[in-house]
Amino acid sequence: MNPLKKKIEQCGVLLGGDVLKVDSFLNHQLDIPLIETIGECLANHFKNAGITKVVTIETGGIAPAYATARRLGVPVIFLKKSEPRTMRQPLCVQVFSFTKQKSYNVCMESGLIEPDERVLFIDDFLANGEAFKGAESLIHQAGAHIAGVGICIEKRFQAGHQYVVGRGYDFCAVASIAAIENGTIHWAQ
Ligand code: G4P
Ligand code: NA
Ligand code: NA
Repeated sequence: MNPLKKKIEQCGVLLGGDVLKVDSFLNHQLDIPLIETIGECLANHFKNAGITKVVTIETGGIAPAYATARRLGVPVIFLKKSEPRTMRQPLCVQVFSFTKQKSYNVCMESGLIEPDERVLFIDDFLANGEAFKGAESLIHQAGAHIAGVGICIEKRFQAGHQYVVGRGYDFCAVASIAAIENGTIHWAQ
């Protein structure tokens, strides 16, 4: 069992509605050696994919994106969840969060991703995939190619996994949850 799965079993907290709380090591406090191990795992998977940039969405994706990008020797762009007034030419897309039952904007300054770049998308969770779809739209608006999708924790029983794999993206999740039943996590093989 890899270190992230071990940590989830030791310190993760299952809330109702299939939500896994990981605040003590990934979403609020960061376990630095664990984040580094996640970065190593994801960078290793995508090391031959010709990645030129890592893209994530604030906030939860930033730490694993950094740990991955520094190993690939490329910059990270974190997409912003509001349109900062300092952005001169923002590209924005609306994302609907099932978890929060509301929509929000995801924005990026145009020109940060250049056409023909090979982008690796990284995030802390893949659930319904709505956040990824927003990022996918912005990356494609910039004319770039998505060369991979790397996720710390995927909940395979939600729609995001099928969406990403169905679109043919090179996909890697460090911890894949097949199901959550009666307070127990079942790992995907
Ligand atoms: P989706 O993007 O996959 O469709 O997911 P959804 O709208 O359902 O979830 C949105 C937010 O909830 C994301 O964070 C995502 O990381 C988080 N999330 C989804 N499932 C879980 C879970 O089981 N546990 C935890 N801890 N988070 C989950 P966000 O709101 O964008 O917040 P943040 O990245 O700023 O923290
Ligand atoms: Na997130
Ligand atoms: Na989150």
